[in-house]
Amino acid sequence: MSSNSRGAWGSRFGFVLAAAGSAVGLGHIWRFPYVTGENGGAAFVILYIACVFLIGVPILFAELSLGRHSHKNPVGAIKAIAPTGGWKYLGYLGVATGLFILSYYTLIAGWTFGYIFKTLLQNPLTFDEFSTNAPLNSLLYVVFLLMSIGVVYGGIRGGIERWSKILMPILPVILLFIIIYTLTLEGAMEGVRFYLRPDFSEITGETIMIALGQAFFANSLGMGAMITYGSYLDKKENIIAAGTTVVIFGIMISFLAGFAIFPAVFAMGKSPAEGAALVFVILPEIFEMMPGGILIGTLFFLLLAIAALTSAISLLEVPVAFLIDERKVRRKVATWLVGGVTLLFGIPSALSFGASDFFTHLPFWAGHSFFDLMDYIFGSVALPLGGMMFSIFVAWRWGMFGASKEVSLGNDKFIGIQSKVWGIILKYICPIVILLVLLNSIEVF
Ligand code: TRP
Repeated sequence: MSSNSRGAWGSRFGFVLAAAGSAVGLGHIWRFPYVTGENGGAAFVILYIACVFLIGVPILFAELSLGRHSHKNPVGAIKAIAPTGGWKYLGYLGVATGLFILSYYTLIAGWTFGYIFKTLLQNPLTFDEFSTNAPLNSLLYVVFLLMSIGVVYGGIRGGIERWSKILMPILPVILLFIIIYTLTLEGAMEGVRFYLRPDFSEITGETIMIALGQAFFANSLGMGAMITYGSYLDKKENIIAAGTTVVIFGIMISFLAGFAIFPAVFAMGKSPAEGAALVFVILPEIFEMMPGGILIGTLFFLLLAIAALTSAISLLEVPVAFLIDERKVRRKVATWLVGGVTLLFGIPSALSFGASDFFTHLPFWAGHSFFDLMDYIFGSVALPLGGMMFSIFVAWRWGMFGASKEVSLGNDKFIGIQSKVWGIILKYICPIVILLVLLNSIEVF
């Protein structure tokens, strides 16, 4: 069934790991701690987990079944169900969002890559010196982008799957080492409190928006990455089991990452609201103090760079699959094309950390950086917006009958109550909740 020329996953395990590879990345280890730190800690964590299970998981199932149903990229998947009309623009939105997220994701991924060597060679550059060094950032950016291109070039089985399989399982072990050490530091308990004792007075409309955005970002939802990954999935696979495994693995990694960061933040007397630099400021100091820190730190950044790579390729794969399926471009040409556009939009992001005053403090956006603007628009707003439209599309346009049938192909228990609950959430709860959150955050803005 799935052995068409587009490529397919080699095995069930391969798919779960590749989907986990797409999901688990900088979103969990870099983005989750910094948005949690900026938005009040424990209360945000609870809000985040609620968003993942209530909104994220049902939309994940929707994306996977839509992809597997059509064996297509987001635009093609939509056209397979709604050949005429405006729905295809939802697919375009997804393709564009993937490209823009990739443009700044690659920057952070490049830092991670640079920090492997910085840690190993015990280079004394501070984060500020590092991030304002334009030639260094450009070099790392291009190197990382080339690595992503290299993997996507290789196609499905040879590239994406092989990498994910070998490396994803080591990450939690390294995080545990870091946690055990940071918990011994004086003052660490204050960080544990910040992270685990909720203060709901910190929650505002915008906080909810950011928690929802993070639920989408971390699980690669809302722009069709999971449609594209689902399109390489065999009909006998169990979408529910595979999807749930991926989400739970992701929550575990995020939770561990926060535990590795916040106790250390407080032990060092720093602010948890450091922003996008948080992980890159805090962890290297930990590695400096910790016994075996050079080795653990090097390994940590190596694994993080690989986790980022398996995520970046899923962002890259969406526009590439779109060009292959819809515009009949060859895979190699498509990959270079998308890589080139990514680079173009990545430049202003790379200059957003002090290298250019203009991009660091945009005059038209309250002095925030170009990078923050991109991450807000695409990471926090466009993904929930896309997710809302996907849920409406699947529940109302495709219909719960067709969608449930697709899921039940690999899971014969998915009839009756399970599919009813899914239907209600997808039909009503997802669109309404997301719409309210979006409207509310605009007002606050
Ligand atoms: N989920 C990945 C991470 O947490 C990033 C990512 C990959 C992504 N593909 C995506 C985010 C698609 C949004 C949409 O690092």
